[in-house]
Amino acid sequence: MKDLGEVMLVLEDVRKYFPLPRRIFKRKGGYIKAVDGVTFSVHREDILGLVGESGSGKSTLGYTLVRIYRPTAGKISFLGKDIGKIDRGELKGFKKNMQIVFQDPGSSLNPRRTVEQTLELPLRVHNIDGGKERRRRIRELLSVVGLPGVYMQKYPSALSGGQKQRVAIARALATEPSFLVLDEPTSALDVSVQGKIISLLLALHDEFSLSYLFITHDLSLMRNVATSVAIMYLGKICEIAPTAKFFAEPLHPYTQMLLSSIPVVTDEEETLKPPKVTSTGEVPSPVNIPSGCSFHPRCAKEMDVCSKVDPEMVEVREGHAVRCHLYSEAEITALSSQGT
Ligand SMILES: Nc1ncnc2c1ncn2[C@@H]1O[C@H](COP(=O)(O)OP(=O)(O)OP(=O)(O)O)[C@@H](O)[C@H]1O
Ligand SMILES: [Mg+2]
Repeated sequence: MKDLGEVMLVLEDVRKYFPLPRRIFKRKGGYIKAVDGVTFSVHREDILGLVGESGSGKSTLGYTLVRIYRPTAGKISFLGKDIGKIDRGELKGFKKNMQIVFQDPGSSLNPRRTVEQTLELPLRVHNIDGGKERRRRIRELLSVVGLPGVYMQKYPSALSGGQKQRVAIARALATEPSFLVLDEPTSALDVSVQGKIISLLLALHDEFSLSYLFITHDLSLMRNVATSVAIMYLGKICEIAPTAKFFAEPLHPYTQMLLSSIPVVTDEEETLKPPKVTSTGEVPSPVNIPSGCSFHPRCAKEMDVCSKVDPEMVEVREGHAVRCHLYSEAEITALSSQGT
């Protein structure tokens, strides 16, 4: 079996709730449970593909990891340190080591800054190089992402979508991080450019021994890119496994639904897909999460227990865990003995 390597990141029951605006005559505000008890770990050089439909909480989880948001509850450890407990100085070191690439480079780059000014900022904040050295470093960062040095003086308005995303990737690499959160890094780009940016990210992963949390809607892309895949639904992880196991035997009915709805080109690809599972309904609102298993109103394999009890995550085989009553006999037995 492949050696998993050093543990980089550990999430334990991480939650991020957003308070709902209080209505004037209705005092009870309530919460949007955007991330609702997420547990997983990422090893060095892993690429964990985090896949889910819109609104499932992927970006909120990514932003919570890089401390744009503070978690409502739970523990996040990075390189052995609980980042909820580190002091200001250590937090700066943490931010240097974990960076994020956003979905839309058009809005993540400041239109009033040249490429040089954009790349200079993280170097200044973290006191990396100075004077001539800094310029040399910026030139080197541009070359690493495949842009010539003349781009230093350009403003974002003079760049294509793909070039802007290359600058955003260079900015994320400026502090020499070991971990990148990639929040749908290609979904705002033309299809013709998407593949080039994916190839660049994979080359950088290998060259700098990086670890990625790769957030995406595109499950089929993860077959070739990720080392592990996690499926998120209404704030929770419902299945996680190493990529080969995940695609060889997808277990959760939601995963099966997502996989069976992937468009394919060849008959050979069609045979790789699980039997057709009809996609039913829309993702419910995270303000009003269904009782029990939150997927039960859309599930083709719904049982009585599903609307009553939220299933636990169960490791069905090594590294392959699923949150579904179909795989947790003990819970069903416990429920029937209570007479419910
Ligand atoms: N700052 C915020 N304040 C209140 N609610 C928020 C905030 N950010 C996100 N949400 C809500 O949390 C839920 C999860 O949103 P999030 O953006 O994390 O989903 P996502 O999986 O990234 O979706 P997409 O694929 O569309 O990017 C959504 O219902 C969203 O409306
Ligand atoms: Mg998002």
